[in-house]
Amino acid sequence: DKPIGVAVLGMGNVGSEVVRILLDHATDLTARVGAPLVLRGVAVRDIGKDRGIDPDLLTTDVRALVARDDVDLVVEVLGGIEPARELILAALNAGKSVVTANKALLAEYTGELADAAESHRADLYFEAAVAGAIPVVRPLMQSLAGDRVNRVIGIVNGTTNFILSAMDETGADYADTLAEAGRLGYAEADPTADVEGFDAAAKAAILASLAFHTRVTSADVHREGISSITAADIATARAFDCTVKLLALCERVSDDDGNDRISVRVYPSLVPLSHPLASVSGAFNAVVVEAEAAGRLMFYGQGAGGAPTASAVMGDLVMAARNKFYGGRGPGESTYAKLPVAPMGDT
Ligand code: HSE
Repeated sequence: DKPIGVAVLGMGNVGSEVVRILLDHATDLTARVGAPLVLRGVAVRDIGKDRGIDPDLLTTDVRALVARDDVDLVVEVLGGIEPARELILAALNAGKSVVTANKALLAEYTGELADAAESHRADLYFEAAVAGAIPVVRPLMQSLAGDRVNRVIGIVNGTTNFILSAMDETGADYADTLAEAGRLGYAEADPTADVEGFDAAAKAAILASLAFHTRVTSADVHREGISSITAADIATARAFDCTVKLLALCERVSDDDGNDRISVRVYPSLVPLSHPLASVSGAFNAVVVEAEAAGRLMFYGQGAGGAPTASAVMGDLVMAARNKFYGGRGPGESTYAKLPVAPMGDT
């Protein structure tokens, strides 16, 4: 079968894991897609660094990699707005499907990128942009497409949830806990995007756009971070059988004339200990969706980190590859390895 060429743009925590999975699980992936998924190249900034893969796969010429004739699918894990936006548009305009984890970009430019994808019959997939490994983008986009979502409430930032959980458990103040989060590798050297709620606001904009079939950008999101939360605030919350969580709240509300409006907010909130989101601790994420017919659904798991985020990227990559070559149906039964089923009593 004709191989499907993949370019990976960026080899940080997520890109490295995507490359590892592509190389280590090539046989399984070929069976699932129906044709070999072949890594054509990885765009990096520093080509001299040993990354444990064939150095011939590495390139600093990211534009040339995207433009290669033998690249069918592009994985963008560079982060930031430019050159990610320009590269994704170049890929889509050439009819190549794109998988991205870039929440900051999607929160501003989903409309432009989606238009390019549609006019060139390419896919733009971004499960990894919100809540890492947790499937929440596809359920909103597909499984709930026929329902009416009224509210989405999420803990969508692992760093701040780690800090707030640790403050709750130890009684320590914010500054000491932030420093500890940095030492453990949760908080970035510049933690502003996480602790001031920008990262959560971008994810909230994406969730609201999907949930309510509209376009919400970061600028539409009311945003407060956690940097002014004190040990006393957490103790007060405890006294009322509550904890403090940085919530992303997207809801359908009625204005004075009874018309629907969308409200999207990110803010530290009192959560009763009896609420399922109160028990989401450490760097975990969770998203609760309330829909008219489905009722309440809850999605929970690892929302950050290289491997969990790569899991979501790989799922999108397999789907994009199938769409391109099998019209979304998948390769059919014949390509699957038949794993023997253990006789009853063996397990
Ligand atoms: N900084 C983000 C977090 C990474 O802490 O959740 C995942 O988007």
